Amino acid sequence: MPSEKFKLAVLVSGRGSNLQAIIDSIEKKYLPAEISLILSNVPDAYALQRGKKHGLETVFLDPKKFSKRDDYEKHMIELLQTKSIDLICLAGFMRILGKNFIEAFSGKIINIHPSLLPAFPGLNVQEKALEHGVKFSGCTVHFVNEEVDGGAIILQAVVPIHDDDDAQSLSDRILEQEHIIYPEAIRLIIEDKLEFSGRRVTQKTKEN
Ligand code: GRF
Repeated sequence: MPSEKFKLAVLVSGRGSNLQAIIDSIEKKYLPAEISLILSNVPDAYALQRGKKHGLETVFLDPKKFSKRDDYEKHMIELLQTKSIDLICLAGFMRILGKNFIEAFSGKIINIHPSLLPAFPGLNVQEKALEHGVKFSGCTVHFVNEEVDGGAIILQAVVPIHDDDDAQSLSDRILEQEHIIYPEAIRLIIEDKLEFSGRRVTQKTKEN
């Protein structure tokens, strides 16, 4: 019998280009996985359309229907547990996740962020990088913990900043790298290639 596929959930709020990169990587058989659920907190997120186009299950979970953040997250937890999700990939999901959610999926939530963390966590990071005058920026795939953009780093890619860059041009250059390293990081997790020492994440050597 073929073994069960590694099950991903992708949480989105917007455009979904990283979701698309994950879908494409699965379709090209780079990722031995399936997307069991795409969950959005925004009704008209374009990511939902991308998922539907590929025949994937999509859900819009309306935060307005829940009076407390905890109740919303409890519902998310239940939904994800019924799908036996192995890894939750945040891909432009614009909500901060609380303690209960993070504990329910401890070590199983990852995020992509468009800067070289720990520089420039939070929002509007391309503007912040330009204002600060750094010459290189990039993107980071990291585990999610309770500190915003503060979890252990899995992979990073460096992108040069050009003198004539604006937030859009920089963002586009970073996004190209996001679409490469996010599937790469997911593959490392699926293939159990990561080692942990404190908050340092490294790749296992062949001898291990
Ligand atoms: C990306 O820049 C990602 O790094 C950040 O949100 C953006 C999402 O873009 N977390 P998309 O929806 O994947 O196109």
